[in-house]
Amino acid sequence: MSSNIAREGDYILIYLKPRKTWLVKLQQNTKIHTHAGYLDTDQILGQEYGSRIISSTGNEFVILQPTISDYLMKASRPTQIVYPKDLGAIATWTSLSPGKIVVEAGTGSASLTCFAANLVRPDGHVYSYEKREEFLAPARKNIERSGMSEYVTLVHRDAVSGLDQKEADISFIDVGDPWSLVGSMKAALRGGGNLVSISPTINQVEKVTVELIKHGFVNVETMEIMYRNMEIREGMSRPSMRMIGHTAYLTFARKALM
Ligand SMILES: C[S@@+](CC[C@H](N)C(=O)[O-])C[C@H]1O[C@@H](n2cnc3c(N)ncnc32)[C@H](O)[C@@H]1O
Repeated sequence: MSSNIAREGDYILIYLKPRKTWLVKLQQNTKIHTHAGYLDTDQILGQEYGSRIISSTGNEFVILQPTISDYLMKASRPTQIVYPKDLGAIATWTSLSPGKIVVEAGTGSASLTCFAANLVRPDGHVYSYEKREEFLAPARKNIERSGMSEYVTLVHRDAVSGLDQKEADISFIDVGDPWSLVGSMKAALRGGGNLVSISPTINQVEKVTVELIKHGFVNVETMEIMYRNMEIREGMSRPSMRMIGHTAYLTFARKALM
């Protein structure tokens, strides 16, 4: 069982209230500044996760181990990312689980990469292709921060020119012209393998669907995941007035052998 004690070098989540959290790396003799006062890291080191810590201005914080969603939502994002609501559906529809081999284009901010690596470890692996050099360093940083480096190989290449993998279980396409990668992904997948294409517009979905069918993929279906927060207050609970209206459409398909 992993230790439940906050140690030097750990990433920890400092919780004040819902949506008011800080993700920090624990280092000795450091002050963590927030609008609700600062915390001294010496108050935190050696404490059990779940402990309450009082700030310099008397506010109560709780120290928690970050979830993979905390890492993703607090990562730097030079590109659009795949959001947790969509990640959940992707995992369910593809059986993303330990031991699976995943190929991905493109890496972008590595949100989907980190999520997938966390599920396929310790025996599985994610091979992620990114054509733009400037995105590799921030992606690598996000992968390292989430502790997934061991389970990810980043490749600097335009995936249109082909992928090195041949018998992958799952492939992800999250690029502006997903139809251009259907051939490369088909070659990288094993028979029956799952393909997921993630696109913000329905026009992209139409074009990729035509291409998937042309390449003999089966069970091609597209969905959009709706997500709404609830505001719970005794006697006056109701859905939140604010909502993320749209992130992306998810298109799923299976490779059928000819
Ligand atoms: C929307 S971002 C991907 C976001 C990523 N899924 C995430 O969750 O952080 C799209 C990325 O695909 C890259 N890209 C576009 N076409 C590509 C191709 N043909 N081969 C490799 N990478 C490509 C872009 O440079 C960009 O970084």
